[in-house]
Amino acid sequence: MTGTPEEKSLKGLFIRTYGCQMNVYDSERIRDVLRPLGYAPVEAPEAADLVVVNTCHIREKATEKVYSELGQLKRMKEASGGRMTIAVAGCVAQAEGEELIRRQPAVDLVLGPQAYHKLPEMIARASRAIGDRLETEFDTIEKFDALPKTREVDGPTAFVSVQEGCDKFCTFCVVPYTRGAEISRRVDDIVFETRSLASQGVREITLLGQNVNAFHGPAPVIEGGDDWTLGQLCRHLSKIGGIERIRYTTSHPRDMDDDLISAHGDTPALMPFLHLPVQSGSDRILKAMNRGHTADHYRDIIARVRQARPDIAVASDFIVGFPGESDADFEATMQLVRDIGYAIAYSFKYSSRPGTPAAEMHGHLSEVVKDERLQALQGLLREQQTEFNASQIGKSLPVLVTGKGRNPGQMHGRSPYLQAVHFEGPESLNGKIVDVKIVGASLNSLTGELMRVPEAVL
Ligand code: 5AD
Ligand code: SF4
Repeated sequence: MTGTPEEKSLKGLFIRTYGCQMNVYDSERIRDVLRPLGYAPVEAPEAADLVVVNTCHIREKATEKVYSELGQLKRMKEASGGRMTIAVAGCVAQAEGEELIRRQPAVDLVLGPQAYHKLPEMIARASRAIGDRLETEFDTIEKFDALPKTREVDGPTAFVSVQEGCDKFCTFCVVPYTRGAEISRRVDDIVFETRSLASQGVREITLLGQNVNAFHGPAPVIEGGDDWTLGQLCRHLSKIGGIERIRYTTSHPRDMDDDLISAHGDTPALMPFLHLPVQSGSDRILKAMNRGHTADHYRDIIARVRQARPDIAVASDFIVGFPGESDADFEATMQLVRDIGYAIAYSFKYSSRPGTPAAEMHGHLSEVVKDERLQALQGLLREQQTEFNASQIGKSLPVLVTGKGRNPGQMHGRSPYLQAVHFEGPESLNGKIVDVKIVGASLNSLTGELMRVPEAVL
């Protein structure tokens, strides 16, 4: 059991069921999907935060009854100060669709019988919308305003937050519920912070966001004021004196627009490293994950990025053992990994998160199967990572020196491909970019020899 209403009575749920046995069954399912979100049944609609009217369309009279009930609920919603969410499910919802909201604007959600597994997502979206209306849009901007305008930094690398939140609603993930909707920080503020970092010796910035490439916002007036996306932001930041390297993380395939792809070709400061999570190589699983892209769509993005920047290092995240994942689905993931060839990747066993649609899906797999698949995947990814690192041997790479190494006289730094590089050199190189000839490679790092350093750098 997930808990009694007393234990978890965070939010009240009232479901009115009309019609056949099928609707009675569906109402139970709706209750089940909502329980992990903290919704517990209440006796009367007045006490509910969410009212679901599960409708029947069999006769016209039944439909009219629904509209009359919705009229009553509208008055209750007004009395609740707008906090009540009204959802219409079932056959009237299916048949009338948008018309329902036109006729009764107090309705927040309309969901057909095939959409119950999306209820948590729909409720989260609706409650965000209600939150926006109640608390004004001010809040989202304030969230970034709360960040200090200038920061003390230590070392030549720093993160700069540019975006927060997620609207993607992957069915396994809690982030859209916990971190809220996608919002972008103002370009002016990002530029201000980056300038201040550069003046303190920062040479490499990593732009941060849950869906960083969903970033968009008006350019400074002096730049024309157009709506910029991440590619334009990167180009602009690369002109700030002292900023020699730009990275961004984490991105989503759906937001990988043409301009960002071409920025990888025309902006030398944009480092040749792309962390683009794919999660699975099976279209069936990607669909169940609500990822909004196929495996081939992902392959195509990577091919285009590689055309723009042939040496780019590609990284990803994977989930193995998503509910319903078959041997063939898992093999499709392995094949995708073989096709792409990753520089580095992070892989996880699917973990059921209460309140997410996947938690309610059929076909959860045993830990044994998940473990086996994770080991197979990680074995392949380790091979690719080792191979990628070894491919640098013999090259001279520009390394951003980030500090002293473990042994006396040793320094460490970062290659453009985000690999750790160890080499012998003086401490005075800290914070500088120097050429290092790579002579050795392991799974997690490179070793190299310092090339001649120009007087001006020393
Ligand atoms: N189970 C396993 N892995 C998850 N991730 C997110 N949610 C889950 C989950 N429920 C992984 C995804 C994501 C990374 C940050 O964490 O791979 O990209
Ligand atoms: Fe959003 Fe990423 Fe979570 Fe998907 S996995 S819902 S894109 S944060």
